Amino acid sequence: MNILRLYLRVIGFLAPERKLAITLTLANLALAGIYFLEPMLFGQVVDALAAPGAAQAPRLIAYWALAGFGGVVASVWVSLHADRLAHRRRLAAIEQFFAHGASLPLSFHGENHTGRLARVMNGGVSNLFGLWLGFFREHLATLLSILVMVPIALYMNWKLALLMVGLMTSFAVFNAIAIRRTHKAQAEVEELHHEISTRASDVFGHVGVVQSFTRLREELAALRAMMARVLSAQYPVLRGWAVLSVLNRAASTLTIVAIFALGASLHAKGEVSVGNIVSFVGFSLMLIGRLEQFAGFISGLFFQTHSLRNFFEVLDTRPAIADAADAVDLGRARGEVEFDDVSFGYAGSDGDTVPAVRHLSFRAAPGSTIALVGPTGAGKTTALSLLYRAYDPQSGAIRIDGKDLRSIGLDSLRRNIGVVFQEPGLFYRSIGDNLRVANPDATQAEIEAAARAAEAHAFISTKADGYDTLVAERGRSLSGGERQRLAIARAMLKDAPILILDEATSALDNGTEARIQKALTGLSRGRTTFVIAHRLSTVRNADLILVLDQGRLVESGRFDELVAKGGLFAELADQGKFAPDAVEEVTPELPLAA
Ligand SMILES: Nc1ncnc2c1ncn2[C@@H]1O[C@H](COP(=O)(O)OP(=O)(O)O)[C@@H](O)[C@H]1O
Ligand SMILES: [Mg+2]
Repeated sequence: MNILRLYLRVIGFLAPERKLAITLTLANLALAGIYFLEPMLFGQVVDALAAPGAAQAPRLIAYWALAGFGGVVASVWVSLHADRLAHRRRLAAIEQFFAHGASLPLSFHGENHTGRLARVMNGGVSNLFGLWLGFFREHLATLLSILVMVPIALYMNWKLALLMVGLMTSFAVFNAIAIRRTHKAQAEVEELHHEISTRASDVFGHVGVVQSFTRLREELAALRAMMARVLSAQYPVLRGWAVLSVLNRAASTLTIVAIFALGASLHAKGEVSVGNIVSFVGFSLMLIGRLEQFAGFISGLFFQTHSLRNFFEVLDTRPAIADAADAVDLGRARGEVEFDDVSFGYAGSDGDTVPAVRHLSFRAAPGSTIALVGPTGAGKTTALSLLYRAYDPQSGAIRIDGKDLRSIGLDSLRRNIGVVFQEPGLFYRSIGDNLRVANPDATQAEIEAAARAAEAHAFISTKADGYDTLVAERGRSLSGGERQRLAIARAMLKDAPILILDEATSALDNGTEARIQKALTGLSRGRTTFVIAHRLSTVRNADLILVLDQGRLVESGRFDELVAKGGLFAELADQGKFAPDAVEEVTPELPLAA
């Protein structure tokens, strides 16, 4: 995207308030006229004062005053409305970025650190904001005043006008060259700033690890090294701009001197009046001021292009997973699930894919329980994430109730699937709000019932603010088991016909797990339930066991069949790879006093 296209896109963001934007443009046109009128009237006043009797002077001074005050009023109006417009559009841009970014698939978020995304959003919108304000308050008027002034100046005196235009053009060319030279270095600087903020937010996010490994000094050293790179990239840019600003000032002095010199010689020949010279000096001063401002704006725009490009890049990322044009609503699914020769791999380092699930086929009857077992890294989590379309398989098809997932609306699909993730995924919000994520309309009674079933109510009640207790970022203020129980309660509240339990009870102690197991059994009744489990009982009661190894389905069947078969599953079971059944602890009764 070249810089002009980029700028047009920035201005294009104002399209939803087109009318106001056009009105502001017209007001700027009026301002440009006034900018030009002032030096012209000033010159005429000088000539009128020099004329015998100075009869015309009072009238011209009155015009001049009128033009001046008119300009003040118009610019106040423009400023106020431009400000308001820019503020509104900035919030709209944040909204758009947020909505789009949050809808992008996991593959995108895997590649973009949250710290970077936040910086891209904040940097992008504040640059948009500055450019909009500049557009209305300055740039437009500058452009228009040049367009108005040049022909009139040519008409007044073409020799002086040509000198002025020539000097201005060389000024503009100078600046353009300087900008081109420094542009690439500035992009590098911006990228380094992104790296710094990504790194910092990553450290903030894992501050516990940093502190326990006493890594602070190393982290700081790494950050300082990045900062040194920023400065060594930034200094040459700043040097270039310092030289340019000195040259600009020299050019403006030169321009005024040249106009005075040519004006004096023309005046001696009687070709121009003193007032004309005054007007031209006024034009030139004004043009130089405007051009300097404009050069500043262009250089600023170059400073910002990288940040704006990053911003638009996110907005332009088309989600790889999106609703088909004729996507259907699944309604409430019966819960028949079919994997038909499904293969999927994550994107590798150099564009190839690393297979995680290979040619997986199975069929799950509505309401049945399917257990996935296999060594860690076998692809169990990945296979089930395909079911709610965190990713799409590279080949094969997945069907729910006979419908290909890709033909179902994403929302409708995901409403039908409750997931207890391996990572509970808690928000920096109250416990209650974390549960309501599953069902915003849930009553307090329903929330409590779900929490009770998930054995979470008791620990929630011991918290200072109960259900209103704030959960720290990523749930750090809760124990692993507490987090899991909240995740289970959340899945219960969702009440979806298909349920995925990804090692949902792995962090729980025996007694708690045994109690939750009952609730989970109750929950899975009437739902198609996928469990990734490590307990023998869960596996034993499953209607279908899928044994995965390195992404492949190596065995499948019921417990007894698989044990009888004497394959990998039997081996795993034999070696005690499954934990024995959890048992509910019996609280020993206190001996009665004799
Ligand atoms: N987001 C990801 N990006 C790249 N590779 C991944 C990602 N998630 C998992 N993998 C890889 O895919 C394979 C299967 O992982 P996973 O499905 O989590 O296994 P399991 O749940 O059976 O332990 C592993 O080799 C893992 O490293
Ligand atoms: Mg897993």
